[in-house]
This record gives sequence, C-alpha cells and structure tokens, in this order.
Amino acid sequence: MQAGRSGGPDALRKPAKQGVWASRARRAHDATKPGARPTECSVLTPSTQALPISQSHNFNGAVALVTGSGRGLGRMIAETLLAGGAAVALHDISEDAPAQYGESPSLTALADELSKRGGGRVIAVTGDIGNPDDVAAMVRTVQDRLGPISILVNCAGGDIAAKGGKPDPNDALNISLEDIHAVMNRNFIGTMLVCRAVVPGMAARGRGAVINFGSLNGHVGVSPEVVYGCAKAAILHYTRCLALEMRPPGVRVNAVSPGPTTTARFLATRATDPSRMEGVSLDRYAKPSEIAGAVAFLAGEQAAFVTGQVLRVDGGMTLFAG
Ligand SMILES: NC(=O)c1ccc[n+]([C@@H]2O[C@H](COP(=O)([O-])OP(=O)(O)OC[C@H]3O[C@@H](n4cnc5c(N)ncnc54)[C@H](O)[C@@H]3O)[C@@H](O)[C@H]2O)c1
Repeated sequence: MQAGRSGGPDALRKPAKQGVWASRARRAHDATKPGARPTECSVLTPSTQALPISQSHNFNGAVALVTGSGRGLGRMIAETLLAGGAAVALHDISEDAPAQYGESPSLTALADELSKRGGGRVIAVTGDIGNPDDVAAMVRTVQDRLGPISILVNCAGGDIAAKGGKPDPNDALNISLEDIHAVMNRNFIGTMLVCRAVVPGMAARGRGAVINFGSLNGHVGVSPEVVYGCAKAAILHYTRCLALEMRPPGVRVNAVSPGPTTTARFLATRATDPSRMEGVSLDRYAKPSEIAGAVAFLAGEQAAFVTGQVLRVDGGMTLFAG
C-alpha cells in the first residue's frame, strides 16, 4: 500500500483492524488489565492514562543504535538512553575517533566504562555510515548481539572534508567536488543508508523511533559551511518524507536541530565567546545534555504521537533575522 495522503478517511481507518495495528491495539488493551506487567519502553504503545513522570525516560527493553556516539553529542545521548535502561550500541567511524579530542582512549574503552555504570547492555561497533557494506555489517552485529533495534539516533556527521579538517574552500562556488561528496556522504547519504538498513525491520515489527540530526545551518542561509548546511537541510526534509511513509506501520521519525553546542570538538576547533558559555540568557551555547534531553523526549513515550517534526534546540537562535 502506498503511504501518503491519498485514500481518504476510510483508507486511514482500515489498517486498524489488521496486522501490526491489531497486535498493537491488543498489546495496549492487555496492558490495561489488572496485574499486567509494566510495558517496556514505549517507543510505541499508546497510553490510555497519564504517564507517571518516572516513565518519561524509561527505556527498559529498548535497543538503541546511536551513530557517532564515540564522542560529543552522540556519547551524551548514548549515556542518557543507557541511564533510562536501554541496551545501547555505541558506534563510530573508527576505534580511535573518541580519542581525537581527548574524550576516551578508544570506542571499546568507552563501552567498557559505560558498562560499569549499570543500566542496559553496551556494545561497540565501527563503520563508515557513507559505505553501505559497513552499514549492513554494523547493523547486523547490533541486532545479533542486542536484538532488534527500536531506537535509532543518526547523530554521526559534521562539516569534515575528505582528508579531515574543514573543507577549504568551503563556500558555494569553490568547494571541491571531493569535499562535496565527503560532506554529503557523512551527513545526508549516511543518514539515509542507516535508515534504509534499520527502518524496514522497525516497520515489520510495528515498533520504532528514529531521531535524525539537523543543524541550525540547515534552516538559514550560511557561508561558509554551505554544503554542510545543504546536507543538513536535506536530512530534515528526508525526515519528513520518511515519517510520512512510516505512518501506517507506526514508526516515528523526527529530527533535532542543535544550535552551537559545547562538545569537545566544538571547543577545540573554533574561537568561542566566553560570555556565551553560561548564564540565564538563552543567547548562549547549548550544553550537550540539553540536546540529549530533546532526543530522549523524541525517543520516548511522551512523544508517542509526534512524527515528522524538527525540534530546534537552539535557544531561539533561528527565530530572528540578523
Ligand atoms: N556541536 C554542535 O555545535 C552541533 C551543532 C549542530 C549540529 N551538530 C551535529 O550534531 C552531530 C554531533 O556533533 P558533535 O558536535 O558531537 O561532533 P563530533 O565530531 O564530536 O561527533 C560526531 C561523530 O560522528 C562521527 N562520524 C563522522 N563522520 C562519520 C562517518 N562517515 N561514519 C561514521 N561516523 C562518523 C565522528 O567520528 C564523531 O564521533 C553531528 O551530526 C553534527 O553535525 C552539532
């Protein structure tokens, strides 16, 4: 069946009696019986009652793959999901990516460190998200070791050139073709490839939440970082399109768009304004935990009816012209 706006109200009502919709409705009904066990994280099951606050970050029973989680925002998100009880697959392009800005000696060392904290299970997988063979292998490993993925966070990315560092030049007319491909691959194409490897399984199970990563650069015209901005804008639109296709099987697809956030890479690669580090003003840099909190919201039960949305977590920075 084609997923889309065609078909009218009958077409929308019909699936409720069949397939995954019927089993989801049964599960929701069973969960309301006296003595029923609490449901596992609920990337899915709609609630019939107000949620206790303690369930807002309850990821018990969930399996999360967080790409680019060897360091920075991905790592903070992985720690947040883990603290909520999810089993988490850490991922990065290489074993030593977490060491680049001094966050951990290696991906395996980070997995060992996080395992000791309790919460869910932790494993580590490596692979280039722009390479379909790497993506297939890493997704297979996660599902073999942890079970079906129910939360996918596509955090890997960045404005990184083919040979490392920032593209130079990095404007609209002069960036090299090699760097255009590199930036599109590690952001837009990579996000698509991971979705294509994971989301069909979620759809078949009628269970899943995907959170993609945009950037404020994907909302406004920028120079430099032009291709990076284009790649992020493409991710945001892909999020809406995939969300539309995934409405019938009940897989939610959303995105967060962070403003400048004080990750180790961010602090190491640019001059920062000390007056924007702290304070009550929202005209400051975000803390990694503030981005992770938004991701946890979109992954969890509180966002059970939220899909196709882009949540800007930028202190209102993109509300204003100039
Ligand atoms: N920090 C910010 O200010 C900020 C602002 C807006 C958006 N973002 C986005 O948030 C995400 C995380 O950024 P961060 O600041 O934590 O950066 P980071 O560099 O610390 O983390 C990005 C991770 O992605 C990995 N990665 C990059 N290319 C990859 C590839 N091809 N295959 C596999 N892994 C790859 C890196 O090795 C790294 O671990 C990125 O998508 C970034 O574009 C960050």
